[in-house]
Amino acid sequence: MTTLITGASGHLGANLVRRLLEDGHSVRVLLRQGSNNTAVDGLNVERVYGDLRDRPAMNAAVQGCDRIYHCAANVSILDGLPQLRQEIYDCNVIGTRNLLQAALAAGVSKVVVTGSFSAVGHNLSQPSDENVPFNPFGNHLPYEFSKSFVEHECLKAFADGLNVVIAVSCAILGPNDFKPSRMGRTLVDFANGKLPAYVPGGFEFVSTRDIVQGHILAMDKGRPGQKYIFSTQFLTVDELMNIFEEITGKSRPRLRIPSLLMAAIASTADAILPRLFPQMPRRFTSGAVRILQMYRKADCQKANNELGYQPTSIRQAIQAAYDHFGQRGIIQTVTPVVRSPQTKETYSEIQR
Ligand SMILES: NC(=O)c1ccc[n+]([C@@H]2O[C@H](COP(=O)([O-])OP(=O)(O)OC[C@H]3O[C@@H](n4cnc5c(N)ncnc54)[C@H](OP(=O)(O)O)[C@@H]3O)[C@@H](O)[C@H]2O)c1
Repeated sequence: MTTLITGASGHLGANLVRRLLEDGHSVRVLLRQGSNNTAVDGLNVERVYGDLRDRPAMNAAVQGCDRIYHCAANVSILDGLPQLRQEIYDCNVIGTRNLLQAALAAGVSKVVVTGSFSAVGHNLSQPSDENVPFNPFGNHLPYEFSKSFVEHECLKAFADGLNVVIAVSCAILGPNDFKPSRMGRTLVDFANGKLPAYVPGGFEFVSTRDIVQGHILAMDKGRPGQKYIFSTQFLTVDELMNIFEEITGKSRPRLRIPSLLMAAIASTADAILPRLFPQMPRRFTSGAVRILQMYRKADCQKANNELGYQPTSIRQAIQAAYDHFGQRGIIQTVTPVVRSPQTKETYSEIQR
């Protein structure tokens, strides 16, 4: 029985692959030629190469697979250029459609598709659960729209007879972050004293351990056509900075930019940078500032009640990410990291 993972070179995929191998599964990974595929180096996996936008490549990738975890996506906080929007749409929406149609044709027994909390509706008065609809007339990033349309593709495939479940992720924190991710870069820059400033706000975070566990629970117990939200903890940015300080022993940046000012700076940059440097990674766009200002909270009761999902600790995940970056020499640790028995466990998880 082969399990296919798309996005295996990414942050979530890298952690999911390791867990599935640990659990004794036979794993095939979908990678792209020319990408940074360090995340799967040295792992006992079957590699297939292809782009989600290439339907024949998806037909080939799913052949002989019993289960699929579809984690791949173009994850972006950028907006602006039509080419960029088109690329996000093609990778995320058309790519998911290609994969799900290929899975249906090949008789795959179950697919878990990674969703995003940004495609769950926002409820000011209480934490959002799976029933709060995404508002298509809201001010959203192209990525957020695309993840909502991904859910639509899942429902269409379900209506066509595919057993598909959506595992909704919040902002991911944890080890095996080889690219690294935006949150990973923030931790690295903080630890290396290169984070110039921060912006207040709040968001719902999920540890790599919990989102991986959520995917496995969704595969084993998730009801076809349903979605489940997986989060570990809501944190304000100030609370996140507290944890970063405790773990790294460094102080937070002195500059705490008020959100209104940051939104103004980011929207000026939005008007200029995409035209000059369309692919340049950015820490903040006005869309990212807006998301932080929403202080969105998640309600994971459905995952808890139906799947037995139990979140662990976000602090432990940040410690494991710090250890992972330290081991790879990306963070210059001045003093050896003091590890509690709890964090030793996550440390050995990284070493596997
Ligand atoms: N990171 C978060 O905080 C967060 C929050 C909510 C939801 N999610 C969801 O979680 C999932 C995993 O996110 P992540 O953080 O692991 O992302 P990531 O680190 O950016 O990895 C994305 C993966 O998708 C692959 N990919 C992108 N476009 C592709 C295409 N056209 N064809 C084939 N592969 C493609 C990438 O391959 P290459 O290496 O070749 O580019 C990479 O392996 C995504 O579905 C994302 O929407 C993430």
